[in-house]
Amino acid sequence: MDKIHSLTGMLDLYNDGDRDNLSAKVFEAEKVLRRIFSNYQLNEMRTPALEDTDLFKRSVGDLSDIVNKEIYSFNDRNDKSIALRPEGTAGVIRTIIEKKLDQSAHKIWYLGPMWRYERPQKGRYRQFYQAGVEILGYPEGAPEFEIISIICSIIEEFNLKNCSIKINHLGSKTDKESFCEALVNYLEPHKDNLDIKDLERLSRNPLRILDSKNEDTQFILRDAPSIKDFIDSSSIQMLQDIRSQFSNICSIEIDYSLVRGLDYYSGFVFEAVSSDLGAQNSFLGGGRYDHLCSNLGGRDLPSIGMAIGIERFASLLDTVIPSNRMTSFLVVTSNLEPKAYKIAHQLRSLNKNIILDLQLSEASLKAKLRRANKNEADYAIIIGDEELKTDTVIFKYLKDENKNQETFSIDELFRFYKSI
Ligand code: HAM
Repeated sequence: MDKIHSLTGMLDLYNDGDRDNLSAKVFEAEKVLRRIFSNYQLNEMRTPALEDTDLFKRSVGDLSDIVNKEIYSFNDRNDKSIALRPEGTAGVIRTIIEKKLDQSAHKIWYLGPMWRYERPQKGRYRQFYQAGVEILGYPEGAPEFEIISIICSIIEEFNLKNCSIKINHLGSKTDKESFCEALVNYLEPHKDNLDIKDLERLSRNPLRILDSKNEDTQFILRDAPSIKDFIDSSSIQMLQDIRSQFSNICSIEIDYSLVRGLDYYSGFVFEAVSSDLGAQNSFLGGGRYDHLCSNLGGRDLPSIGMAIGIERFASLLDTVIPSNRMTSFLVVTSNLEPKAYKIAHQLRSLNKNIILDLQLSEASLKAKLRRANKNEADYAIIIGDEELKTDTVIFKYLKDENKNQETFSIDELFRFYKSI
């Protein structure tokens, strides 16, 4: 019979115990990110994967590549156009409006799959995970510093090397419009030297030309107007302050050509990039979007946020080292011994900081110890026929050069296990 394959660009994630594989790193990254978010007193939100297609047209923007070319949208059985979310911010704001929460401030985090119909390549998938943060209800100022602080904490916690945070300011809505106009005027005489993609951007979404990968376009852009000349001096000052406050923690660059692929941004924008990634070198992005809530029918709610692409981010991490201590519980009688399993159960409830791997196979003691060592267990608890008869266990130290093994009564084992 023909086998059924996964869809193009969609990854299966399974942590089979090999700590070098991407899945192990993805899951570990998610665990640590959850902890960081809770340290910043952010509250979790989970929104549906499917939304009304109009939500993304009116937020991400129907001129953006994401909505124009990449969205997974289709009609449901009732002929309503629905879409798999390409990003998380629009759903968060829709929820806030619908639950009438747009009168107050919120600090939110979320994590979940997103979908974009892009051409798959290294670091670019059609289904990928994002962990995002949205800080709602505060005008420009403190939240900009808070969001950069969160990003620096993430970079520090994972000890990421070779990465930097690029920051820019797109000014107010009118600054952005004036800059766009100046850019178009500058590029019009160069039209013959632009490729089809950049010509299309020129007519639909001129700011995106600054992102062009075409070297000829980048050459033309060398003398183009800069956003720096269209924004307030206070905005430039904020960029400089952010750089000077955080630059001893992370590398921060002011990049006046940084634009973002989603239409809802105005004001402060940023991306974190790593030279260890290929062409898709940005593992995190975000910015301020003060008009999104009112554009979607809610109140004015000044907001800022960011999202991390988990697979890209995870691919930058070193081998995952488990943070908990690890014990292997080896039952080495030929029979299934109910008493042994009860002891393992009691140990698990006595000390929740220890991972206890009950080895279920009928392999030999030697094979089981080999597996315990491979899994980097700190200890092995061995129960065989003799031990079962005398209510004892053998406690083996696998990583301590000065100790080999001891025989413990069950009570001694419980006391010791609790104290580890
Ligand atoms: P974004 O820059 O479109 O921003 O996506 C954020 C991150 O998601 C990217 O930096 C990248 O790591 C990851 N990503 C995007 N597309 C793919 C893909 N096809 N495959 C793998 N990873 C991908 C947003 O989505 C905004 N909602 C961020 C935000 C939150 N702005 C304000 N609040």
